[in-house]
Amino acid sequence: MRSEMEQDILKVLVTEEQLRERIAEMGEILYDRFHDKKPLFLSVLKGSFVFMADLVRACQVKSDVEFIAVSSYQNATTSSGRVQITHDLQQDITGRHLIIVEDILDSGNTLAFLKEYFLTKGAASITIVTLLDKPARRAKAITADLAGFVVPDEFVVGYGLDYAQQYRNVPYIGVLKPEVYTQQ
Ligand code: XMP
Ligand code: MG
Repeated sequence: MRSEMEQDILKVLVTEEQLRERIAEMGEILYDRFHDKKPLFLSVLKGSFVFMADLVRACQVKSDVEFIAVSSYQNATTSSGRVQITHDLQQDITGRHLIIVEDILDSGNTLAFLKEYFLTKGAASITIVTLLDKPARRAKAITADLAGFVVPDEFVVGYGLDYAQQYRNVPYIGVLKPEVYTQQ
């Protein structure tokens, strides 16, 4: 397939095939944990929208989906530490078993904030599923219950993850060339 973005990618960290295989495994693991529990898959927008779409189809349990949007980066490549809800839950989550679906667990600021928020809203249980885990920069005591891949301390894009709202449609996980950051 032709791609306008390919020339901006320095290297590929996780290929499409690796994503497909791992997400299939993750779906099976979640099936074992959640069958008969009618979990609520809760996608943290925007970054997790691609992963969410593949994960829910890899896990054939009776379930529903929900979305919340937060922002903490304000177009920078490191977390500002302040998390704001920009689109809130549209349903009551009291007593629900939540599967939080994240693209990447980095500083942990976002998930520390959201975990607390969902507990105050009465969730019965909270399971954190992240496609990528970047432990090098963790600032909060947050761990994923299930992570797809551990990535090094580099800013990554693709498969939902952006730089300044671009590159979300790159079908693999990659690292941008340094000049891309200085051009914009
Ligand atoms: P924190 O630092 O709060 O990060 O754990 C959570 C959110 O920040 C975004 N994020 C990234 N986005 N490449 C991205 O495109 C990265 O390397 C990266 N690190 C963090 C992401 O939206 C995540 O949900
Ligand atoms: Mg982002």
